[in-house]
Amino acid sequence: LAVTWSGGGPAHLEDAARRIANTWKVPLYERPRKSGLTPHFGVIAHAFLVCDGRGVRLVSRSAELRVSPGLALLRLKRLAVEASMVDALVHHAKLRQGERVIDGTLGLGADARVMASRLGARGTVIGVEASLPLAVLMSEGLPFERPWPDSAPIEVVHSTALGYLSRQPTASADVVFFDPMFERRKAASPAFEQLRSFASVLEIDPDAVRQATRVARRLVLMKSDDPRVFPQLGLKPLPPLARNSTVYWGQVGIEKP
Ligand SMILES: C[S@@+](CC[C@H](N)C(=O)[O-])C[C@H]1O[C@@H](n2cnc3c(N)ncnc32)[C@H](O)[C@@H]1O
Repeated sequence: LAVTWSGGGPAHLEDAARRIANTWKVPLYERPRKSGLTPHFGVIAHAFLVCDGRGVRLVSRSAELRVSPGLALLRLKRLAVEASMVDALVHHAKLRQGERVIDGTLGLGADARVMASRLGARGTVIGVEASLPLAVLMSEGLPFERPWPDSAPIEVVHSTALGYLSRQPTASADVVFFDPMFERRKAASPAFEQLRSFASVLEIDPDAVRQATRVARRLVLMKSDDPRVFPQLGLKPLPPLARNSTVYWGQVGIEKP
């Protein structure tokens, strides 16, 4: 990963790129005015975080990602008018105002945004992301977005879920949530394929689930397109909410004082 700015943009974009490169200790590519990035992929970096007039975007030879409320916004609008049953994550997590949630696989944060909206401003979502390009994109891009009203802040951490959870005190969060990539066999949306090109190939393993079970006071919850992973990882499969559901849920229910 390298950081740069939109060629020909105003000077403050260059300042923003310098700050981000410094904060995350990634190389800065000092971009000549109006020059393209195409010749530099695989030479200077495989991916560039570009500061531009709308915030930041992540660009590789084959993909481009921007932080966007997108899918989360549709879910949040539905949740605002219908019961929580319409959203499987909200239904299973039963989040309460003020809770602290660790999202161990942040990705582009659609699930994190939905959870943040249920926790209220006193709650917290820690979004853990193992891929450096995605962690930087989310951390630097989220502040450009107008949050859903009365949402908890989302704090981005660049780490593996196992590494982060191992460093947390016992019973220090209410819920730990995982949405790993696994090998998604079904045709995924174009947006998901773009995410996949930047995503970490690390997976959630039984050690990560054990650490999550130690750190969570109330619940460890996982989403997967393959229900066979749950028993292998030590989670109890949950009954699907709909008969034609293609997403499955597993959990470890915990009651720590
Ligand atoms: C399916 S995506 C998550 C999508 C997310 N729930 C959303 O709503 O946008 C999985 C993400 O977890 C990250 N990841 C995979 N294994 C991880 C691990 N062991 N620790 C932390 N992040 C991981 C990947 O880089 C990817 O961004």
